[in-house]
Amino acid sequence: MFRTKTCGELRLADAGKKVTLAGWVQRSRKMGGMTFIDLRDRYGITQLVFNQDVNAELCDQANKLGREYVIQISGEVAERSNKNIHIATGEVEILVDTLNILNEANTPPFTIEDNTDGGDDIRMKYRYLDLRRNSVRANLELRHKMTIETRSYLDKLNFLEVETPVLIGSTPEGARDFVVPSRMNPGEFYALPQSPQLFKQLLMVSGFDRYFQIVKCFRDEDLRADRQPEFTQIDCEMSFVQQEDVLNTFEGLAKHLFKTIKGIEMNEPFPRMTWHDAMKYYGSDKPDLRFGMKFVELKEAVIGHNFSVFDEAEYVGGICASGCASYTRKQLDELTDFVKRPQIGAKGLIYIRMNEDGTVKSSVDKYFNEEDLKNIAAKFEAKVGDLILILSGPKRKTQKALCELRLEMGERLGLRDKQVFAPLWVIDFPLFEWDEEVQRFFAMHHPFTSPKPEDIHLLDSDTGNVRANAYDMVINGVELGGGSIRIHDSQLQRKMFELLGFTPEKAQAQFGFLMGAFQYGAPPHGGLAFGLDRFVSLFAGLDSIRDCIAFPKNNSGRDVMIDAPSKIDQSQLDELNLIIDIKE
Ligand code: AMO
Repeated sequence: MFRTKTCGELRLADAGKKVTLAGWVQRSRKMGGMTFIDLRDRYGITQLVFNQDVNAELCDQANKLGREYVIQISGEVAERSNKNIHIATGEVEILVDTLNILNEANTPPFTIEDNTDGGDDIRMKYRYLDLRRNSVRANLELRHKMTIETRSYLDKLNFLEVETPVLIGSTPEGARDFVVPSRMNPGEFYALPQSPQLFKQLLMVSGFDRYFQIVKCFRDEDLRADRQPEFTQIDCEMSFVQQEDVLNTFEGLAKHLFKTIKGIEMNEPFPRMTWHDAMKYYGSDKPDLRFGMKFVELKEAVIGHNFSVFDEAEYVGGICASGCASYTRKQLDELTDFVKRPQIGAKGLIYIRMNEDGTVKSSVDKYFNEEDLKNIAAKFEAKVGDLILILSGPKRKTQKALCELRLEMGERLGLRDKQVFAPLWVIDFPLFEWDEEVQRFFAMHHPFTSPKPEDIHLLDSDTGNVRANAYDMVINGVELGGGSIRIHDSQLQRKMFELLGFTPEKAQAQFGFLMGAFQYGAPPHGGLAFGLDRFVSLFAGLDSIRDCIAFPKNNSGRDVMIDAPSKIDQSQLDELNLIIDIKE
């Protein structure tokens, strides 16, 4: 046998046994006539000992081993005199009698340690080495466990895993598509699926009843810490369900994962909040509920003081940060700079301090006397020692800025503990959102989402206020998953396309197959998709989903290891009948 044990399994009880191990040289230390080598594999590290006095030739060989050499050794397990309590194998070592070098290695460009000296770019270029590090490997192990538990949970509930195609047609709604030219159909393109949305709905029409798929999805979007151009969904669909059934089923899945993976029992139902309240109180459709600091709207309370910043603003709102009244000028300036950053875009920041001596002071004392300030503070139920922070301006933009400020204050006050989990369902999303630039409605979730039956009569008269049977699961401010009850009626689906500005011909050309299918007995259905990468990152406490993806893309959408995307040969272009003419 190549190896009889792994590097992570030997214990004191194994002392005296003859074993063979194989792995990578993590590090070596020479102490007098002894050489110690840490041998690493996926399962752990085992200390090897070579003794000059016992076998000088073997010891000399060991002294020549470089970092990351792949070796095979045999020897006897012995109790260590100098035990390492930090690793599971730390009570034993192997007195090596045979050494076989399986492969030499160049010195790696960064240390293969938990706290490596390698920066992001270099680690991504040599991702196969980065993946040898414990922390990165642990993330992939966690990911594996989560997919196994997901499959087991869904299988028990009769969900069938069905694969759907990756080469599909491009659709204009949603994010930008990645496209693939077709050799056999010159001038025509496939698109990679942004999600299997239409296929899973068609599977419901086919009677599959309960579908899931752990599936790659592709979106040509601008990238962020929680977005990759190719990412994985736990994609699900169910027939003969109402919203409540879907929420219960997938709340159950989340609870199952918390229990089996994190050992956390979540016995209470997840709280629910309407989209409207989420925006009103947190300025976001994915509020982080690990802490309070709800927005207080102040417009009514602050107009009429000759302070044009408030008087002329569409929206004035604030948050109350406990115990921050003692913030220094410098700290307040930092916060002001924070909200004025271009990506946040506030014009300035106004504060009210609830001083320890009982006085109330603000940055707008010129316009508001102490009595006025106390009245404002009462709206926040502010206490001595608190700091009220106020922003004003256009409504949606200011709410967004206040949301960023709230998160920043939560961070500064240590209220965003990664070991604390605050789940939430955000429900009753609007069906449409208006796009100022192109002056038309877009589907907020996607065009197949059903309006709430009680709002259907508003579709023409008050389109912007129609609510959808759509929901997102949010945990700690992360949108983990989202879905909806679908339209299953071809008439209503046609109406939806009309409201989205499709001509009947275009709707037919793009989605005729779906509306056709709906005419052959489509059951009521609905579903949801979780972002697996986000779910794993949440459980692992990662700042970026990249760290739980084996071979991720960088922020410019590049795989720097294989250097993709890349140009292709002229012969390939010729075969595809393509001429490249890049616009300036
Ligand atoms: P949605 O577009 O909300 O819904 O996507 C579902 C979930 O997928 C994750 N996600 C992403 N994760 C990483 N990188 C990305 N670029 C990215 N985009 C989305 C999020 C999100 O909540 N077909 C519908 C689902 C349905 O209606 O059933 C859909 O795709 O966690």
